[in-house]
Parts: sequence; C-alpha cells; structure tokens
Amino acid sequence: MSVDQTAIKALLEEHRTFVPSPEFVAQANVSDPTVYDRAEADPEGFWADFAKELHWYKPWDAVLEWNPPHAKWFVGGKLNASYNCLERIINQGKGDKIALLFEGEPGDTRALTYNDLLKQTNKLANTLKSMGVQKGDRVCIYMPMIPELVISLLACARIGAPHSVVFGGFSAQSLVDRITDADAHYVITADGGYRRGKVVHLKEAVDEALKECPNVKATLVYERIGKPDICPVNMVEGRDHWWQTLMAQASDVCEPEPMDAEDVLYILYTSGSTGKPKGIVHTTGGYLVGAYATAKWTFDLKDSDIYWCTADIGWVTGHTYIVYGTMANGVTQVLYEGAPDWPERDRFWEIIEKYKVTIMYTAPTAIRAFMKWGDDLPAKHDLSSLRLLGTVGEPINPEAWMWYYEHIGGSRVPIVDTWWQTETGHLLITPLPGITATKPGSACRAFPGIGVDVIDEVGNSVPNGSAGYLILTRPWPGMLRTIHNDPDRYVRQYWSQYPGRYFTGDGAKKDKDGYLWLLGRVDDVMNVAGHRLSTMEIESALVDHPAVAEAAVIGKDDPLKGQAVAAFVILKQGHERSDGLISELKKHVGTKIGPIARPDDIIVTAELPKTRSGKIMRRLLRDVAEGRALGDTTTLADPAVVAALKQKYSDEG
Ligand code: WTA
Repeated sequence: MSVDQTAIKALLEEHRTFVPSPEFVAQANVSDPTVYDRAEADPEGFWADFAKELHWYKPWDAVLEWNPPHAKWFVGGKLNASYNCLERIINQGKGDKIALLFEGEPGDTRALTYNDLLKQTNKLANTLKSMGVQKGDRVCIYMPMIPELVISLLACARIGAPHSVVFGGFSAQSLVDRITDADAHYVITADGGYRRGKVVHLKEAVDEALKECPNVKATLVYERIGKPDICPVNMVEGRDHWWQTLMAQASDVCEPEPMDAEDVLYILYTSGSTGKPKGIVHTTGGYLVGAYATAKWTFDLKDSDIYWCTADIGWVTGHTYIVYGTMANGVTQVLYEGAPDWPERDRFWEIIEKYKVTIMYTAPTAIRAFMKWGDDLPAKHDLSSLRLLGTVGEPINPEAWMWYYEHIGGSRVPIVDTWWQTETGHLLITPLPGITATKPGSACRAFPGIGVDVIDEVGNSVPNGSAGYLILTRPWPGMLRTIHNDPDRYVRQYWSQYPGRYFTGDGAKKDKDGYLWLLGRVDDVMNVAGHRLSTMEIESALVDHPAVAEAAVIGKDDPLKGQAVAAFVILKQGHERSDGLISELKKHVGTKIGPIARPDDIIVTAELPKTRSGKIMRRLLRDVAEGRALGDTTTLADPAVVAALKQKYSDEG
C-alpha cells in the first residue's frame, strides 16, 4: 500500500464511529458523560465511592498516599478479597446464584453456585493450613482452566497467602524460575488438563521442576484426568497430597483473614525487556476496588448477565476479569477449559448458544483466527443472546473489529477495546459502552479517573494527530506496587524515563478527536498471539543450546498472531545448519520456556548487524524478516552483514 493510501485509510478510520444504541444507553450502568469530568475533578473521591460498595472490616484513613513512585491506596483499611467475592455476594441474597458454568474440553459440565464456591474455598483454605501454609507464604498455582483453579486463588486470598499463578502452558523450567524467585514453598497443581484433545501433563512438569526447588515442602494435586494409563502420576510420600483426599476431611468453615489494604494479594510473572521475568506485585485494597469498578462499568455487568472471558487465569486478564473484578460483581460466568477449535472450529459459538452468553471478552488474535476459519461457523449458531463484546491483549486491527462487530455482534452490540497490562492490574483505556462513540481499532480514551497522555522523546504532550509514547500521569488503585525481589527495577523500568509519570512501553497515537490508537510495544517485548514474550528470554534459551554461539530474536508482523517469533542464530564452530538442527532449536525453546515461545523462523547466519558499540540492531532484523527495504544503516558496523542476511532469509525463511 502506498503512503497516500495508508493516510486515506487512517482518515476514513478516524471518521467511522459507532454510537451506542438508545436501548443500550437506557439500561447502561453508566450513561452520563459528565462522569469523566466529575472523576477528573476528584479522582480520589471517584475511587472511594466504588470502595464504599465493597466490604471492609475497617475503613481506610486516607484514599491515597503518593510518594512518587510509591503509592498506597485506602491506607489503613482492612478487607478480604475472597469475602468480597463470596460472602458479600451471598449476603445480597445470591447464594444459590450460579457463579461458574464450567465446560470441560471433553464436554463434561458442572455448575457451581456462590454457596458452593464458598464451601469449596473454605475447605481448601483449611486444607492449605493443614499443609502448613501461613499468612504471607507464597503459593504457586499451576492448574488447568477448571473451577478448582478459581477456588485455589480465592482460598489463598482467604488466608492471606499471596498466590503466584503460572500459566499451564509454561514449561518445567519456567516453573523453576518462578517458584524460586517467589520463594514459594507450596504448589497447587493437577494430574493434567485437556487441551486440543490431548492431555497436558502438569504434575509431571511439577515433578521435573521440583528437582531444582528444594524449598518446596508440599504439593496438592487435583485429580482432573484420573486415568493412570494416559496420565500417570508419581506421588512423593510426605510431599505430594491428593486434593480429593484432603478436601474430604476438611471443614467447610474458615474465617477470612482481615488483610491490610496494602498486603500482597498476588505476584504474577510477566516478560520484560530483559531475559528475567518480573514478579509483578499486586496488593489487596486498591486492586480490588479498581478491578470491581472497571468490570462494573466497562462490561456493564448486570445480575442477569452470563459473562464469558476466554482468557486463561494464568494471565492477568483471568485474574482480574474472571476471578476478582467479575466475582466481586456477583456475575454468572462461563469457564471453558480448552481450545477454540476442539473438537470443531465453532466450539466458541456453540458455547455462546448453549449458555446464552450475554458478554464475551476475548483477544484480537482469536478473532483473526475466527475470520480465517470462515463466516459460516458463527452463522450456524444463535448468537442473539450477546449484548456486549470486549477485546484485550494487543492492538485490534479495524478489519478484525468490524468482523467481530458484524459476524459475532450482529451489527447490534457495542465493542469495548480495553488497553491495560499485568502491571496496571485492571483496564485503564476503554470505551464506556453506554457513552462512547467507538472507532474500530481505537481503545478510545482513559477510564474515568485515570490520567493518560502521549508524549514525545523529551516528555512533552503531543498534539492531536501525532504519535508518541503512552504514559500514565498519576497513580491508579490497581497499579503494581513493586517488582518482587527487585524494587530498583520497579523504579528504573517504569518511573525513571519521565520522573513522576509511568512509562508503559507502548506507543500510541492521538487522532484529531483525541482518541487513542495503540501502536504496539516500543521496547524489546513482543506480543505473540496476545502473550507477552521477551526477545532476550528467547535469546537466552537459544544460547543455552550447545550448538548456538549467539542469537537475536525479533517479533515480525504476522497476520494471525499479531507478531511471530523470528530468530537469527550464529552457530558454534563445528556445527552446521540442517533441518534437524532447526527443529531441535525450536523444540529447545519450547522446553525452556513453553510452546508459545517457539520461533516460527530460525535463520542461521555468520554475523549479526550491530552498532559500533556492539548492540544488535533489531530494527534492521525486523526489516529483513518482514521483507522491507532496509532502514537507516548508517550506524551499522558492517553493512554487508544485512545484505547477506536478507539473501539468506529469502532462501531459508
Ligand atoms: C498490549 C494484558 C493494544 C500492550 C492485559 C500492553 C494492548 C501489553 C491492548 C500488556 C489493547 C494489551 N490494545 N495493545 N487493547 N491490551 N495490549 O501484561 O502492548 O499480558 O503493554 O496484559 O499488551 O500485556 P499483558
């Protein structure tokens, strides 16, 4: 596409708006546009009003204490997150309301009410205590997407033991790194889980990991598969306990621990621009208030809704919008264990029809896959129960937005494109579905009370129509409080570029109306199918292989996944490129980090383009991988390297 056409397309996009229907506005939780001004005039009062809707053992003394870059919210307040998601809802007369409609990948189903969840949570809380878990102890959770995963988070919250959930798709080695960094002494897992018709052997990965985690005292293993022939389990006497056995003996009464608003609720690891994942620390009070408020207004949650977030609880989206934010709103949710294309590519639409889902929250990468699979699949199903759609995780291209709008939403329902990060705890940029005229591809504007800006290199706000770095101008309730074990990195990473302001690592554009358009990462973090991956982490995994001397990894544009991993490697003396070696290297990355990190392309090269100071020029590698004309090469130590690489990429890539 020529530059002119790109500009014309962008202009058209900026002018295409979708206003909420009068019917939607009439029933919306919030439809008065003046909320933005009111929140702006008094952000602390705005958040405190939401906080008052939650249950506190002791009210807070101050809403915010801000000693940049350290914030405390609801200072002095005491509350329990699990109480707010369970008893608070039950006390509203909703004990028999269904909390979770579980659909296992093989087709098994269960419905759990809020009363059921409270009982199970209490039993698990008592079980954890009997295993020795105390307030403040970190518990690692490595589970499939089953109700017991939700119960595990709530039980930890109940007794004040911060959880550290590790996505079930991560490898044993990733588990070692996370268990070690968090110094978790307990692990909750399952024998396995179902994914695309296969069994994922979770306990086996835990066993492998625990060889290198001598501090782990005990594990609790939920029997999900229960078939020793396809999923054998080796229980270590004195260390490993079956969930079902211990739970059968546990009392279903457990008083929740009153937690300080600033006590840690959880740690969640995410990729940064170095090789070492960061343990993002979230505390209890502010996080819960932010999660509750944003879920209520952005998803317009009502008592009658059947809400479905398709994310895994191993990612922050599941923490906030399956567990804490949505449960604190007392909503009924669908929880699905498996893949969207199992057994057929219309599984999602089948689930929506079956449970009469009213709100769906998913990722652009999934939407692009559905587009590819064909319009006829959703068309076969009755999706008329839907009244609101959401997306998260990466920029949504206008084409995917339009497809979602037309083919899933029947050109009737609002779409909320929500921008946020593991670090932010809850969404910060989004339309409000009863107020905002949306534009396909734009996350629109900051949630009320949130301060956002786009700035240039030196920190000046850019005018409408320009692009720059996305920053947050003031603290917000769910913000990370620190990086576990690395408080300096917290300051360096987020608050040192523009002191007093939070650096998101994302690029963004303000259009002529001030709408925000997210442009992707500006650092060495990739976004592959909505999952955050660090280039350096994959480089370390590659260099860990005996045949690899040096590696450079980039995210290249991919029509389906947003970005795909491409790796350039220099082999050690005595090793030569072969198809066998390439697949071995891909497999090696999968084993070290997890299947999501496996490179699509691995190019063997004799040299890598570097600046005179020895820094790898990733921008040039991206140009090579995406087949573009080369950018500025004036700082390149040896321009011939790129020309050679380009040739190689077209031969091998
Ligand atoms: C990207 C996921 C554009 C962004 C909740 C951010 C988005 C990173 C959007 C965080 C969106 C997330 N539009 N980009 N609506 N949502 N991102 O920590 O680059 O897994 O910095 O949190 O995903 O990813 P994370």
